[in-house]
Amino acid sequence: MALLQRTQRFLRLSSKYIFYTCRCFSDATKLTSRRDKIKQGPGLKDFIIGDSEPVLLDRPHIPYLPENVTFASKRKVYFDVYGCQMNLNDTEIVWSILKKEGFEKTEIEDEADIFLVMTCAIREGAESKIWHRLDHLRGFKRRRALKNKEKPVKIGLLGCMAERLKTKLIEKEKAVDVVAGPDSYRDLPRLLALTDSGQTAVNVLLSLDETYADVVPVRLNQDSVSAFISIMRGCDNMCTYCIVPFTRGRERSRRAASILDEVRHLAEQGVKEVTLLGQNVNSYRDASADTGRCDTKLAKGFKTVYKSKKGGLRFADLLEQVSAVDPEMRIRFTAAHPKDFPDEVLDIVNDRPNMCKLLHLPAQAGSSAVLQRMRRGYSREAYLDLVRHVQRRIPGVGLSTDMICGFCGETDEEFEETMTLLQQVDYNVAFLFPYSMREKTAAHRRYQDDVPEQVKKQRHARMIDLYRQKSQTLNEAEIGNTHLVLIEGAVHKTGQLLGRNEFYLKVVFEQQEILTQDNSKKTMKPGDYVAVKIVGAKASVLSGIALYHTSISEFYREVSWGERNVLRV
Ligand code: 5AD
Ligand code: SF4
Repeated sequence: MALLQRTQRFLRLSSKYIFYTCRCFSDATKLTSRRDKIKQGPGLKDFIIGDSEPVLLDRPHIPYLPENVTFASKRKVYFDVYGCQMNLNDTEIVWSILKKEGFEKTEIEDEADIFLVMTCAIREGAESKIWHRLDHLRGFKRRRALKNKEKPVKIGLLGCMAERLKTKLIEKEKAVDVVAGPDSYRDLPRLLALTDSGQTAVNVLLSLDETYADVVPVRLNQDSVSAFISIMRGCDNMCTYCIVPFTRGRERSRRAASILDEVRHLAEQGVKEVTLLGQNVNSYRDASADTGRCDTKLAKGFKTVYKSKKGGLRFADLLEQVSAVDPEMRIRFTAAHPKDFPDEVLDIVNDRPNMCKLLHLPAQAGSSAVLQRMRRGYSREAYLDLVRHVQRRIPGVGLSTDMICGFCGETDEEFEETMTLLQQVDYNVAFLFPYSMREKTAAHRRYQDDVPEQVKKQRHARMIDLYRQKSQTLNEAEIGNTHLVLIEGAVHKTGQLLGRNEFYLKVVFEQQEILTQDNSKKTMKPGDYVAVKIVGAKASVLSGIALYHTSISEFYREVSWGERNVLRV
């Protein structure tokens, strides 16, 4: 009876999730097709391990969880991270959760008891890399089992590929013990504990409200001068090619107060650069905060399949507050959608010296017809209008983009339009991809993946060539200019110092004593801001000579950002 009540309660709670799979596998468990399962809904057997033991898999703090599952003993975890910056930050969240439970971290495979692989599903290529890694881990697990029965190895797959494949992962790769989607990391200690008794545990519930706001990520690299902060999760845009809305779920924003706390905490730790992360940061909205401000409308020529949000604290408000925490902390943000760049956001980027003036405006394609098939919500012309507007509003702004070639039905002429867009807009950074059809997406349902692989490859190579040539020219134009560089560390091979300019471009230079703000001389170290005169340029790195120690406020005191481009020392 108690078990029935628990199950009913679980079902009531789980109805707020948009999709779930929640099951423990014993060898005897047989999978039915997902369609059948959806029809039937979850049965009692979905919550049963082996023959009799009831186990409900959900968040660890929910009281109906069985008391008989003990948390895993202190074990050493080895992290493998694939994919985007969001995955890196998610790994820091996972590490924070596990550390609290007494787990340890190792970077030595032989010491590891648990391998956690943070996966990416955005393109088939990303998944192939992970299958490859799993081949290695399966062998490692087998060898360990032969060598040391007392110290078995567990393998957990986390993130987008885990969410995409769900239980299929375990059917395909028997060596995997735990599968956890992006919204179930709080459950990991329990999922891992379940594997102690030889079970396989899966939690791929997607949530409407999980933002991990209360989990302070523990940085994997404590020495790093920069850090990431997730400000929102999921995506509602539903671009037809993209799997993200299915693997990361609906869009939800983290409360501004918890973001600001984290920024302050990082500033206290000496972090000098923070990147605000999300699939679509500029549609951020903290509904709990009432600013009393009017909403901004989408710019002319842009539309969205979703209703624009009303009220609350907007991205512009968040940027205003985040950039005010520490004027000496650089603020970046990614990824963004071109539809959400109101003037309020542009003005804050322009006005605040610590807001990096590189904007990510992912075009995805240069042809209006392709953009329409992609359901991007803008035409080539609207995109170009936005570029011109941004350039007027933030003089000297840098731009970055994502571009896809070989999308369904892309003709030679349509691809040439992508090439002319790449030619026309001076992108400082471009991420260029051949299209990879993903199941579940609208493109998979509606269109044919009809551009031959060979053609995709050729188009991809042409985009890269053009981008390299243009970057070379853009970078050469910087020779003679002085850039504000935040030092990150040293180049392994040469021992030269390595830092990043505003546009996130690498700048290398020799270590030496240079003037400080109080006119003494000092060598340079990671975390220092230095003025570097650019003397050499390649397509992806600049070389320079360090001139003097400085700060953001000092560097831009006399020379505004707009004039910086003509500052020659
Ligand atoms: N194939 C190729 N590239 C893709 N991207 C997203 N989905 C796909 C896909 N199916 C690219 C987009 C996006 C970036 C993160 O990855 O350019 O902006
Ligand atoms: Fe994918 Fe489009 Fe959302 Fe970006 S905006 S994550 S490309 S669906």
